[in-house]
Amino acid sequence: MSRTGKVTVVGSGFYGSTTALRLAEYNIFESVVLTDIVEGKPEGLALDINQSRSIENFETKVFGATTTSDGAGYEKTASSDVVVITAGLPRKPGMSRMDLIGVNAGIVRGVAENIAKHSPNAVVIVVSNPLDEMTALAQIATKFPHNKVMGQAGILDTARFTNFVAEKCKVEVSVVKTLTLGSHGETMVPVPSRCTVNGKALSDVLSQSEISELVDKTRNGGAEIVALLKTGSAYYAPSAAAARMAKAVITDSNEVMPVCAWVNGEYGISGVYLGVEAQIGKNGITKVMETNLTSDELSSLKVAAEAVRAKQADVKDL
Ligand code: 2OP
Repeated sequence: MSRTGKVTVVGSGFYGSTTALRLAEYNIFESVVLTDIVEGKPEGLALDINQSRSIENFETKVFGATTTSDGAGYEKTASSDVVVITAGLPRKPGMSRMDLIGVNAGIVRGVAENIAKHSPNAVVIVVSNPLDEMTALAQIATKFPHNKVMGQAGILDTARFTNFVAEKCKVEVSVVKTLTLGSHGETMVPVPSRCTVNGKALSDVLSQSEISELVDKTRNGGAEIVALLKTGSAYYAPSAAAARMAKAVITDSNEVMPVCAWVNGEYGISGVYLGVEAQIGKNGITKVMETNLTSDELSSLKVAAEAVRAKQADVKDL
């Protein structure tokens, strides 16, 4: 079996290291590089993952690289096809994702500049929070075309919504379809009109108040986990989502997924990074898809776009 593609995961916290493990276990990439500023941590994690290869039956090799903010160590990431940026601080209980904007902007800007220098043709997937703003910042700092920089959130938020609906309806997740658009924050837009259970509209299966409760639970999905963990934030579902996006790029699958993408006229919205459905292939976003929304859902999406537009305008100076 031939394996292709080099994926770098920046940041060896739980999110980054679990993403690297998932990517390696797909057994389709030639190599995965895991980086961190904590000396020895990415090398140690890479060794550990590689030692699991004969047990889990994968051949993809993982390499660790300690990096510094002035760019040392980034040569090991050179010519990556995909770079997943997980660097930055996670939330603490009671914090919103937006509370991280000041500290994470400096980290993401530095990482993005080093990535642009060493992997000028990469597709960049941002997962650092606040997600929509850090995605916009990564595009500004790399100066890459908008289609080559995207953020991970919609797959995660949709997966959370799916899980909550499946639990409420007491069915398997495989028979539930859901969708969330908008921001990965206060203005997340779960889209009940696009949700089905065993092919039936969600509104035929649950009452309006039950649907509203699940919509709120989805918007609060990350914060609920942060409050329980007390230190750090979610990483199993987030890493699964990020790894799926990297796989779609390397395999040029053109799968349609909800992601944070640059919107240029779709839904009457332009010039902003926003959670929408998009087709993903080797050049990143190959097409932003428009779906039928109810008038309430469309107005919520427009509110989300204006909220993130205001914050994204601020990040260029951070
Ligand atoms: C979450 O929602 C980490 O933002 C991520 O859990």
